[in-house]
Amino acid sequence: MRIPVIAGNWKMHKSVAESAAFARELLPSIAEFDGVERIVAPTFLALTAVAEALRGSSVGVSAQDAHFEPQGAYTSQVSAAMLGGIASYAIIGHSECRAWLGETDERVNLKVRAALTCELTPIVAVGENLRQNEAGATNDGISAQVRAALQFVEPAGMSRVILAYEPVWAIGTGRNASATIVGDVIGGCIRKTLAGLYGDKIARQVRVLYGGSVKPDNMAQYMSEEAIDGALVGGASLNVEDFSALVGIAAREKPVRSKA
Ligand code: PGA
Repeated sequence: MRIPVIAGNWKMHKSVAESAAFARELLPSIAEFDGVERIVAPTFLALTAVAEALRGSSVGVSAQDAHFEPQGAYTSQVSAAMLGGIASYAIIGHSECRAWLGETDERVNLKVRAALTCELTPIVAVGENLRQNEAGATNDGISAQVRAALQFVEPAGMSRVILAYEPVWAIGTGRNASATIVGDVIGGCIRKTLAGLYGDKIARQVRVLYGGSVKPDNMAQYMSEEAIDGALVGGASLNVEDFSALVGIAAREKPVRSKA
């Protein structure tokens, strides 16, 4: 059974105080919903305050990145090892990091492996850009990104990996990909790629999320697709009402899995 996931990626939003206040406000608003893994990813600066505010709760804390070296001369970076005891997840390979910070498939792979070594759950983002999409190259590109990200990851590690399919053209644009197309990419390409690497059983067990302009009013269509296990959410995760609505929709639309 795959437990659905709603992960809020706050990107470079919210001060430390705002992040902690949000976390405290979120808890009562989602308390009634069972069976959905809920995660927030504040800035590095706010991680400790948010972790403190959420301690003992059902909401997990994620970093937005994690460097693969445990320490070293990497100005501005935070290592997976340093996140221990603060975060339980790390978003790896977000398209904004690939675009702005020169993140490569090779570094994504190193970070995924470092996250696993440090007992973090990597939320690994993959996605095609508009040019690839319009050229009909989505599946080839996504499959290559998945294979690169998971190189040398042992089958046992896959029980902790979460993948997120985030078409670059859908992120922050209000132009979400249709649920049918996302279902086809995740079911027909990502799970097939996983099956080729790890066999059918693991391919069916790995959680794969969709991300890209997810909002309460389009969430139900994604949850109605068997292949989609939840969402990695930017804009709509910045607002308590929208975030809790997304958790509620995931709980309602995947009730069988919710009782897993
Ligand atoms: P968005 O961002 O929901 O604002 O499109 C998604 C993401 O970047 O993970």
